[in-house]
Amino acid sequence: MKKIIIANWKMNPLTERSAIRLARAEDFRGVVIAPPFVFLEAVSHRLKKAKLAAQDLAREEERRGPYTGEVSAKMLKDADVRYVIVGHSERRRFSKETDTIINEKIKLALKEKLKVILCVGEPWSVRKRGFGASKKFVKNQLRKDLKGLNPKSYILNSRLIIAYEPVWAIGTGRADKPRDAVEMIKFIKKNLKPRSYILNPKVLYGGSVIAKNAKGFLEKKEIDGALVGGASLKPKEFKRILNIN
Ligand code: PGA
Repeated sequence: MKKIIIANWKMNPLTERSAIRLARAEDFRGVVIAPPFVFLEAVSHRLKKAKLAAQDLAREEERRGPYTGEVSAKMLKDADVRYVIVGHSERRRFSKETDTIINEKIKLALKEKLKVILCVGEPWSVRKRGFGASKKFVKNQLRKDLKGLNPKSYILNSRLIIAYEPVWAIGTGRADKPRDAVEMIKFIKKNLKPRSYILNPKVLYGGSVIAKNAKGFLEKKEIDGALVGGASLKPKEFKRILNIN
């Protein structure tokens, strides 16, 4: 089975024209493309095979009040978005998103039947204390982010994807070792199992995945795919990653 590859464009590219060009180059089966909000509509019209993701969503429903600048789960649904990234470390860090906020967003996304790509991962200050500390950190994130979820709302339809992204590996060119990523991903899967409703969780790796190191991750049976940032903005590089898949 082909693995899930997610292209997280972050705050790129600059123009709609470039976004359309990039989307065309990445329109392959098994690919999920996450452009900035402003390009969702344009990209959605060009995709034949890839699926569309948003990089974030509002923590509230539109009917709950005025929320300048926010985009709701319902709006995403209407724009043909099927997936949404929640809890990316850049949002946790720069937008001060707490696990409580992330938990609220996950619930709203699932209510609209969007697939959630939940990002978890430890910062370097934790990893340098060892793998045990990292596992504890990630376990805690999962516990808080998934708190109180109604199993029936997502599990049966496998609407939850976890992306293990060690913060220190994101955008740094310093990817985790595939062996260590496997250990953490196995841990995450084991951790989700006791929540009896999660039958077969998909867990991806993210953090400085490039053409050169992608095989090391994608060939591991425990790793269900990759979340790719920087390299997804370079069509040739990204295509090489897809060819491995
Ligand atoms: P990167 O980003 O591939 O540029 O490290 C990954 C991510 O932020 O999801």
